[in-house]
Amino acid sequence: PKERGAMNQPLNLYKGFWYRSHALESVMAFQRHFQAQDSDIILATAPKAGTTWLKSLVFAVTHRSQYRITGQNNLLLTTTPHEVVPFLEEIYNHNKSPDLTSTPSPRIFGTHVPYTMLPESVKASKCKIIYLFRNPKDIFVSMWHFGRMLPKDIPSLQPITIEESFERFCKGISLFGPCWDQALEYWKRSIEKPEEVLFLKYEELKEDINKQLKRIAEHLGCPFSYKEENAEVIEDIAKLCSFQHLSNLEVNKTGKDLFPQVENRAFFRKGLVGDWKSTLTPSMVETLDWMVEQKLHDSGLTLN
Ligand code: A3P
Repeated sequence: PKERGAMNQPLNLYKGFWYRSHALESVMAFQRHFQAQDSDIILATAPKAGTTWLKSLVFAVTHRSQYRITGQNNLLLTTTPHEVVPFLEEIYNHNKSPDLTSTPSPRIFGTHVPYTMLPESVKASKCKIIYLFRNPKDIFVSMWHFGRMLPKDIPSLQPITIEESFERFCKGISLFGPCWDQALEYWKRSIEKPEEVLFLKYEELKEDINKQLKRIAEHLGCPFSYKEENAEVIEDIAKLCSFQHLSNLEVNKTGKDLFPQVENRAFFRKGLVGDWKSTLTPSMVETLDWMVEQKLHDSGLTLN
């Protein structure tokens, strides 16, 4: 089935999730061709859950010995997080078959696909997966604003009202949605096989970034040493990747490095927890809360 999604793009339903047709093609391509290596790191998120932040954090953690965190040669100061950590969907877009064998390890990739759609080679390897969850109310609000930044001259992206967008989002019809079903897949896997999937929450990153950076480093098999802790390496990474810092870098303010129609700056809006309060009506809040509660019920996954 085809429907228009929360950002008004035409989406196709495939095995319970909604994709743009070209994204579905590239998912098929990377499922078929991507050969995982044991040292690979896969960062999985719903769009607008904080993907950009997670990419920068994981890159900074894993490259902390090569790039001085605050040093001028740090790649994150001159390159967007989406270029530093590309999406599998983009690498395999338009049937490209890239040669990734010479990419230095650890190779880090982003993806928005649900766990069940990851390539078999990923599941069969010792790859580390990190999933980032965010309160769906904030995901929706972030998506709504993001959608409004997309060019208005493309007929398939004609603006819609927030009510229409919200209704579709609640039905789960959004890019790679429903986001709660995606989260549940990774949540279950993180319980069954914690050494494979680390499940993070945007709200917890905001609350105590140092603690979550330690969890990330441990999961990736590169825990911070006492020496590093004393040298405040964790604080440096947190500062480097903070919304305040990244959003003010020239590279993240200008240009269109990820999608030809989307400015880099669109990935940095407010970076807050609970901004839904500024946008959703009480009845929208009630509807989405009820919806999410039904979905997460009995799973053990809770909203922060
Ligand atoms: P808001 O629209 O609520 O501000 P994604 O990267 O998955 O597209 O998600 C974008 C959301 O993450 C936006 O949320 C954006 O502002 C926020 N974000 C981007 N970089 C961030 C950072 N370094 N720290 C916290 N939030 C960040």
